[in-house]
Amino acid sequence: MGAEIARVGVVGLGTMGAGIAQVCAQAGVETIGVEVREELGERARERIAHYLGRGVEKGRLTGAERDAALAGFHTTTDRGDLAGCDLVIEAIVEDLDAKRELFRELDGIVAPDAVLATNTSALSVTEIARATEHPGRVVGMHFFNPAPVLPLVEIVRTELAADEPYERAYAFAERAGKEPVRCRDTPGFIVNRILIPLLNDCVRVLDEAGVTPEDLDRAMRFGAGWPIGPCALVDLIGVDIHVHASAALHEALGEPRMAPPDRLVRMAEGGELGRKTGRGFFTYESG
Ligand SMILES: NC(=O)c1ccc[n+]([C@@H]2O[C@H](COP(=O)([O-])OP(=O)(O)OC[C@H]3O[C@@H](n4cnc5c(N)ncnc54)[C@H](O)[C@@H]3O)[C@@H](O)[C@H]2O)c1
Repeated sequence: MGAEIARVGVVGLGTMGAGIAQVCAQAGVETIGVEVREELGERARERIAHYLGRGVEKGRLTGAERDAALAGFHTTTDRGDLAGCDLVIEAIVEDLDAKRELFRELDGIVAPDAVLATNTSALSVTEIARATEHPGRVVGMHFFNPAPVLPLVEIVRTELAADEPYERAYAFAERAGKEPVRCRDTPGFIVNRILIPLLNDCVRVLDEAGVTPEDLDRAMRFGAGWPIGPCALVDLIGVDIHVHASAALHEALGEPRMAPPDRLVRMAEGGELGRKTGRGFFTYESG
């Protein structure tokens, strides 16, 4: 096995990247976040500081732990600064060409034994790996939103992967306090492959069986033991995010259940995106 991972790069500090950077910084590794503009890096730092501060208020970490995590987190717009990283986790836009271009570049920046990971939800990790000259060191590390809260990380293995980088990615996720699970590079990996068509079925039942979102959620909570109802879950995920992931899975697998239901497409087009816009299946007070 390669040496223990001491320095991690996170490229893209949006919803997922900022959360992943927080997880890494809290794990005690030096973390370098890369954004396209300085102010986006700064905004991510503020968000991370805010969440860590809330963690201190709630007693989940100490003030000293928060300070140490923030002290170990740096942002930059220069990808060359990732040269000394043992692991780079990519969390930029979900676009195959953009990711392939980035991985080609990262492959030439980091040391030969560094691990390159993508947080893609629906793209082929194999296609991303093929853009590099060392596809054996490219893995999927699929975190769930919000990354600091949800424990699961799917560690995705391509046919081209070498054992050592793959196991290093797994071991790092475990060390960062996550619950890694191994899987092969297939559309939707594990959770989305199951959850997306399932949530689509739930939404279709609303219209087919004339059920209100409130009652559908009660049905699944009280009849199937779900901790949260499907409509509340789609609101939490974001209607636009779900529709996008669903369309990608439908394109990859061609099964009708994977296609986003019309009702969700209309909601997405109308800006009813769930919690983040204050309106989805339900309404929320603070956007
Ligand atoms: N949002 C989710 O629930 C979720 C869950 C799991 C995985 N993902 C995946 O994570 C990735 C990121 O998703 P997100 O929701 O965080 O997106 P986002 O739009 O919130 O963030 C993307 C960030 O990447 C930055 N960026 C774009 N190109 C860049 C580049 N070349 N270099 C540096 N930064 C760059 C953008 O400025 C933006 O801040 C996607 O691949 C997505 O499929 C998303």
